[in-house]
Amino acid sequence: MSAPSTGGRTHAVCPGSFDPPTLGHLDVIGRAAGLFQRVTVAVLVNPDKQGLFTIDERLRLLAACTVGWPNVIIDSFSGLLVDYCRDNGITAIIKGLRAVSDFDYELQMAQMNTGLTGVDTLFMPTSPEFSFVSSSLVKQVATYGGDVSAYLPPIVDQALRAKL
Ligand code: PNS
Repeated sequence: MSAPSTGGRTHAVCPGSFDPPTLGHLDVIGRAAGLFQRVTVAVLVNPDKQGLFTIDERLRLLAACTVGWPNVIIDSFSGLLVDYCRDNGITAIIKGLRAVSDFDYELQMAQMNTGLTGVDTLFMPTSPEFSFVSSSLVKQVATYGGDVSAYLPPIVDQALRAKL
């Protein structure tokens, strides 16, 4: 058993696509900001997947939505998350879990990431009111004219309406 360490987990990352950020994401980011000295929200640059919002747009939206949390930093990354963590002194990955269905894949990724570099993943249950909210569902509903304002920060809701 490894020795307990104190104060080792001061910098955590909330990684994701954030296309676009939802109130579910903000719920997890805000709670992580209360637990860690520093939280980096890292947007994956995925050349194989064209998003609705550009990476710059997502970064700007996230920056606007997290302006009230001074210990939250917004960044983007490409390649392996574990390499990004190592290069930035990040010792914990925070993942929100909406439902049991999220768990299988998240567990696989968490164990792979720990196997690669030893970085730990902490799972944070999403608040129940956001348990069904995902970026993809929000985009789908909004595309057909549905009102998703209850699930998005106002600035993101406006950006989504403008986009569609
Ligand atoms: O919001 P998403 O799309 O569910 O986020 C998934 C993300 C970005 C966290 C995951 O795809 C990821 O970590 N990608 C980076 C590439 C990587 O490290 N892959 C190996 C995972 S074990």
